[in-house]
Amino acid sequence: MEHQKMLAKFKELYGADGDIRMYFAPGRVNLIGEHTDYNGGHVFPCALTIGTYAVARKRDDEKLRFYSMNFEKNGVVETSLSDFHPKEDKNWTAYPKGVMWAFTERGMKVEKGLDLLIRGNIPAGSGLSSSASLEVLTGFLLKDLFGFSVTNEDLAKIGQFSENQYNGMNCGIMDQFASAMGKKDHAIFLDTATLEFTYAPVALKDASVVVTNSNVKHSLVASAYNERRTECETALAELQSVTDIKTLGDLTEEAFEKSKDAIKDPVRQKRAKHAVYENQRTVRAVEALKNNDIKLFGELMNQSHVSLRDDYEVSCPEIDVLVEEAWKVPGVIGSRITGGGFGGCTVSIVENGAIDAFQKAVGEAYEKRTGKQADFYVVEIGDGPHRIPV
Ligand code: GLA
Repeated sequence: MEHQKMLAKFKELYGADGDIRMYFAPGRVNLIGEHTDYNGGHVFPCALTIGTYAVARKRDDEKLRFYSMNFEKNGVVETSLSDFHPKEDKNWTAYPKGVMWAFTERGMKVEKGLDLLIRGNIPAGSGLSSSASLEVLTGFLLKDLFGFSVTNEDLAKIGQFSENQYNGMNCGIMDQFASAMGKKDHAIFLDTATLEFTYAPVALKDASVVVTNSNVKHSLVASAYNERRTECETALAELQSVTDIKTLGDLTEEAFEKSKDAIKDPVRQKRAKHAVYENQRTVRAVEALKNNDIKLFGELMNQSHVSLRDDYEVSCPEIDVLVEEAWKVPGVIGSRITGGGFGGCTVSIVENGAIDAFQKAVGEAYEKRTGKQADFYVVEIGDGPHRIPV
C-alpha cells in the first residue's frame, strides 16, 4: 500500500518514464553498549523493520531533485552535483548529499544526477537512527544505480564518514553498521576497535524487546555528544601517560581503578569510567544472552542506565521517569535509555504476558509526572538494506 503511494507520488512529481527503483534501509535500537563505539568498545544493536524508503531514478544531467513525504510542505528541493557544502547544508537533504559527496571523496564519483523520493517511518527525533538509515539507504541506492563496488560494511563506513565530515556530528560507527549489516531476529555484537562482529539470535524465551518513545528531543544534542567524545579523548590521553592502551575499551574495570588518578578532572574521570564499565557490561550481557540468562542481561541493562544517567550524564528527567516506572512493573526484566541520549527512547525487555500492563502503567505514570505522552513499540528485528521490486 505505502509502496504504491510512494511510487504514485514519484511519478506525479517526476514523470513515469525510465528505470524507477525502490529501496529500504532500517533504523536500529541498541540493546546495550552505549557511548562505547567511539571508545574502542563493544556495542550490541539490532536493525528494525522500520526505517527509510526511497524511490529513485538516475538522470542524464547533473541535477539532483529531492522530495520527502515526511516534509511535504518543502516540496521538491532542487540542487546539483556541483553544489556540495560540507558542514553548511542544514536541511534533511544534507544527509543524502553528504553520502554522494563521501562517495566522490573516496574516488567513486557520482557522475549523474538523481530524482529521489524519500519516506521514513521512524518517529522523528526518537534516537532510532533515522539519519543513519537515510545514509545507508543513499549508499545502497548509489551502489545499485551506478554499479559501485562496495560492501555493506563499506556503506556503514561511508555513512559515518559523511555524518562526521558533512553533517558535523562526530558519531561512532554503531548506527550505520547496525543499519547496513542488520539481520532478521539477530543483534550484532560488534567490536568497534576491529570491526569484528558476530550475529547473536535475540531469543528471549517468553519476553520481547519494547521501545518507549519519550517524545522529547533536546536541542544541542550534537554539541553535547561531541563534548562527551572530546572528554573521553582527553581522558584516554591522560591514561596513556601511565598505561599502555590504545582505547578505553582496552581496560578492564580493575585496570581502570588502578590508573584512574591519571585523569585529573573528576567529571572526565566519570566519563571514562562509564566507557570502560559499559564495554565490560556489554561483553558480559552478550555472554548472558548466549547462556539464556535473560535475568542477568536485564540487570546489566539497568546498570547501564544508571551509569549513563549518573556518570555519563546523557539522560534527561523524562527518560529517567520512563525507566524508573518501568523498573517498578512486574515482568520487566530490564530497562534503559538507548541511543545517543538527551531524550529519545528507552529499551526494555518485558515478559510477553506483562506488555499490556507495562504500557498502561508506564504510559499513565509518564503522563502524570511529565504531562507528556509516551509511545510504545514492540520491536521486530529486521534485515539490512534491500531493493524492493516495483
Ligand atoms: C549515537 C551515535 C552512535 C553512538 C550512540 C551512543 O547514536 O550516532 O555512534 O555513539 O549515539 O551509543
